[in-house]
Amino acid sequence: MSNKVPLKIALVGCGRVADKHLKAFNYLAKNNKKHGKRAELIALIDPFPQARERILSGYKFVKNKTTEKCNNDPTGGKNAGQYIQQFDSIEDLFATNLNDVNEKPDIVAITTPSSQHYTQAKLALENDCHVFIEKPIAMKLEHAQELQILAGQYNKKIVIGHIYRYFPVIGLVAQDIVQGMFGKPLYGTVSVRWGHDQAYYDQAAWRGTREHDGGAIMNQSIHALDLMHWLLGEPDLISVKGAISTQIHQMESEDLGFGIFELADNRWLMLEGTTNTEPTRQEASFFVRLTQGDIKAGISSGKISFSVFDSNGKQLKKWYIKREITQRIKTEGFSYLLQMGNPHTAIYIDLIDSIFHDRQPLADVVSGVKSLELVLALYQDAGVEL
Ligand SMILES: NC(=O)c1ccc[n+]([C@@H]2O[C@H](COP(=O)([O-])OP(=O)(O)OC[C@H]3O[C@@H](n4cnc5c(N)ncnc54)[C@H](O)[C@@H]3O)[C@@H](O)[C@H]2O)c1
Repeated sequence: MSNKVPLKIALVGCGRVADKHLKAFNYLAKNNKKHGKRAELIALIDPFPQARERILSGYKFVKNKTTEKCNNDPTGGKNAGQYIQQFDSIEDLFATNLNDVNEKPDIVAITTPSSQHYTQAKLALENDCHVFIEKPIAMKLEHAQELQILAGQYNKKIVIGHIYRYFPVIGLVAQDIVQGMFGKPLYGTVSVRWGHDQAYYDQAAWRGTREHDGGAIMNQSIHALDLMHWLLGEPDLISVKGAISTQIHQMESEDLGFGIFELADNRWLMLEGTTNTEPTRQEASFFVRLTQGDIKAGISSGKISFSVFDSNGKQLKKWYIKREITQRIKTEGFSYLLQMGNPHTAIYIDLIDSIFHDRQPLADVVSGVKSLELVLALYQDAGVEL
């Protein structure tokens, strides 16, 4: 592992969410005035060549485009950032004798079906790489906990694709909550109405299955659970009442779920999560009550709204927006403003910074373990065999 910019990234899985990673790669491979070129894509891994080719064609920093697999092609890596190696599997990537430091990834980004995250992340850690794992971190709690231990043993960072933590303003609000600006968190409620039609579940065999994906709670609501748990001060889970149902989709897992979580220090969280709503009007709404203020946020058809009130009833929304924009321009420059709608870019910026400053990223491995714990506890109470 070189730990020198630009860091080399290998992308494992070239499906839907990989597009958001691609947008981040195109941003980070540009020569930023303040940071230079921070990262570059060096390998694409997917069993389907056409999936790799799709991502390759969207990456702006490759001259020598090819659909050929690398197989340690002696020309590969000679011009780092110009030749993208391609592999069918992560095992092939690490089995290949990657001699040239430019061919070895520093970061492995895992965007495969959820049940594969654990084994692929483990292999990446064992091969001296930092890891970006799409949510959920794993499907089993013991696997997530093992990844946490391994990251510590190998001294590697793990960041989870918990995008809500990286939405504009959220980080500043969370920081102020931690510093006690709004008093003590009391409770939160969150609704995730993330409608999907049957075609969404039918597009791949892994979707909607218990083993590989889970349903509205594990797949769609885990982001919200992570965010709410964070804003509530990350208290331990005491107990949960969970209920799930499969109402309108042909799938093994739930398309509707509810959870009431009792958390340490008398904090509470209520969740409604569903994919039964209208797919063209996906929305999530959040409310957190603190002893000295409350926070409301929402995302509806891609549009973000929020309000923050202090104990005097003063609306702090404009103040937060100004702070956010000023900070982003200061740390990243104006070019970042076009990335505000792609939280994956912010996740990579945080991960890279965490590597160089040896600190934990915001959506660290602990957040991955905690959010999975909440989901699995809800499932267990609802009678799902885990
Ligand atoms: N953070 C987010 O906002 C977000 C959004 C969507 C999905 N996700 C998560 O990302 C993951 C992928 O979701 P998706 O919608 O992109 O799925 P997808 O089915 O569109 O893509 C998965 C890709 O992985 C490839 N793949 C399968 N097995 C592989 C293997 N062994 N090695 C390499 N590639 C392999 C498939 O060919 C496919 O191209 C899931 O875990 C999902 O929960 C996160």
